[in-house]
Amino acid sequence: LKEIIVEHSSGKYPVVITNRVYDILSEKITHFKDHKFYFIIDSNVDSLHSPVLSKYLKLKPEARKFILRAGESSKSFNTLNKILADLASNNYQRNTLIISIGGGVTGDLAGFAASVYMRGVKLVHIPTTIIAAADSSIGGKTGINFNGRKNIIGSFYHPEFVITDPQFLKTLNENDYRSGLGEIIKYAFLSGTSFYDFVYDNFNKLERRDPEILEEVLFHCIRLKADVVKKDEREAGLRKILNFGHTFAHAFESASSFRIRHGDAVNAGIISALHLSYIKGLINKNDLNTLLKLPLKLKIAQSIKKLDKSKLYSIMQNDKKNTFNEPQFVLLMEPGILLIDINADKKEIFEAAKSLNVIS
Ligand code: GLY
Repeated sequence: LKEIIVEHSSGKYPVVITNRVYDILSEKITHFKDHKFYFIIDSNVDSLHSPVLSKYLKLKPEARKFILRAGESSKSFNTLNKILADLASNNYQRNTLIISIGGGVTGDLAGFAASVYMRGVKLVHIPTTIIAAADSSIGGKTGINFNGRKNIIGSFYHPEFVITDPQFLKTLNENDYRSGLGEIIKYAFLSGTSFYDFVYDNFNKLERRDPEILEEVLFHCIRLKADVVKKDEREAGLRKILNFGHTFAHAFESASSFRIRHGDAVNAGIISALHLSYIKGLINKNDLNTLLKLPLKLKIAQSIKKLDKSKLYSIMQNDKKNTFNEPQFVLLMEPGILLIDINADKKEIFEAAKSLNVIS
């Protein structure tokens, strides 16, 4: 068992990495005896882990369970409405504890519901995907997609604790697992060269889901994220580095109506951001070719290549990370040294997107 403390402006909470998720959960919720529990569970997790999960839930007969259909389309006002209506019509009061079990979609939505229901009820995250474990369950960002745009409605709202059990990652399907590796590649670029080299050298083991390597990598990503959140919770500056590859990635996701997985989009976004770093003169051609080797270890989703560049550009102009209508990027000088808020013009962006053979 390993524990990392995440500090934020109004308190702190632990992220526990363990192979005994239900034991730790049972222990921890003894501190919330006077609370009424409400589980929000991803449908894939619910079916794959049904035997243990139902055994555990039987211990909490009064708790309700909301099964969230797996997939980005659930991160909507419509599903939020259903959750809030279910809470209200079942008389959940201020002593509600929402426990989210799932990936980024489940955590973001459950977190947003927890932050607005009764002006805020308690929240616990049990991330079951790489993206959620390494990134989205930490740091308090919650939200839903709206009007075809990613995460434009949401809040900062922290959980009481997070429990990460790498065993959940064993049951992820190939596509979801591969997409999660995109987020780990991002963290490799955010850290110094030693973690970058570690990820690069152990990539085959990561692909094979080696439990020790996975645990070590998750531990490193969570520690880095906790450090960034402590220094800049509200993303005034430093936290923006976590958006490396994301201006492109969010455009790929939105342009495909969220059919392209987040981690796949991030990995392709990193490839484009590295090209843009080269176009902007931050790295030379040799460095570019060397740095591309890591993201190119993952297959680029064919559907990204079919996206229309002009559509991508207009989505980027509306990205919530911009100050005005000029797309802004996080670019890289070397692993661990990034520049934030860099503007690029249409020509440079098109040139960078060409690296993925994006059409038109
Ligand atoms: N996923 C980026 C952040 O939490 O800031």
